[in-house]
Amino acid sequence: MKNLKETTPDTSPFHPPSSPSSYFLSFEGIEGSGKSTQLKTLKIYLEGLGLRVIVLREPGGTTFGEKLREAILASKEALHPAAEAYLFASSRAQLLNQVILKELSKEKTIVICDRYIDSSIAYQGHARGLGAGTILKIHELPPLNFLPHQTYYLDIDLEISFERQQIRGGQKDYFESENKDFYQKLIEGFEEASLLFPSRIKKIDGRREEERVFADIKNYVNKLLDIPG
Ligand code: TYD
Repeated sequence: MKNLKETTPDTSPFHPPSSPSSYFLSFEGIEGSGKSTQLKTLKIYLEGLGLRVIVLREPGGTTFGEKLREAILASKEALHPAAEAYLFASSRAQLLNQVILKELSKEKTIVICDRYIDSSIAYQGHARGLGAGTILKIHELPPLNFLPHQTYYLDIDLEISFERQQIRGGQKDYFESENKDFYQKLIEGFEEASLLFPSRIKKIDGRREEERVFADIKNYVNKLLDIPG
């Protein structure tokens, strides 16, 4: 089977009935990178252009996926990296089958996912040590070999991530209780994903003010959708 490296939905061995006017986008980054804020702004922008926008999160987005989310994030016992990788992949396969592919078959629809395969590359592949190759191998199985058209990776430093997490407060979940070494590995993992998929993943400096970060996202999405800037 074809290597997923630089595979786009168009060249993927799996061809879902995707409408040519519909696009699949994802956001990636470590905790506190500003994904949620930017995702909301992008949704409003795209709706303003008359597009239908479906926002999803991973893990989750289906009844079964939300159960998996709860099981993983509330887990008090350490999961084996292989268990983690397959749990996230299970949630993703359900989300693709039940929601993403159906929505993308409709016209003028933008599906935006808060985290997707690159989180698996960074968290399970790099930080947990399974290796990016293992994650890509798992994703050769359809429908998992369906990748976003464009991914916005919001790059921030370790220090900013911890500062923002502290301000946010609240109870820490399964991954939030990890130490700085783990977070450093996550940053390296997202870098690795960016190198594996240089045209799909747009690395954006997330340390700047919200407006400037969004200006970059808007430029990229305008180019993808062929919207005059
Ligand atoms: P979430 O609360 O959604 O994190 P955030 O608000 O930072 O996006 O929790 C999802 C957690 O699951 C997050 O810590 C990243 C992790 N994760 C993986 O480890 N692998 C994956 O494939 C995905 C999608 C998420």
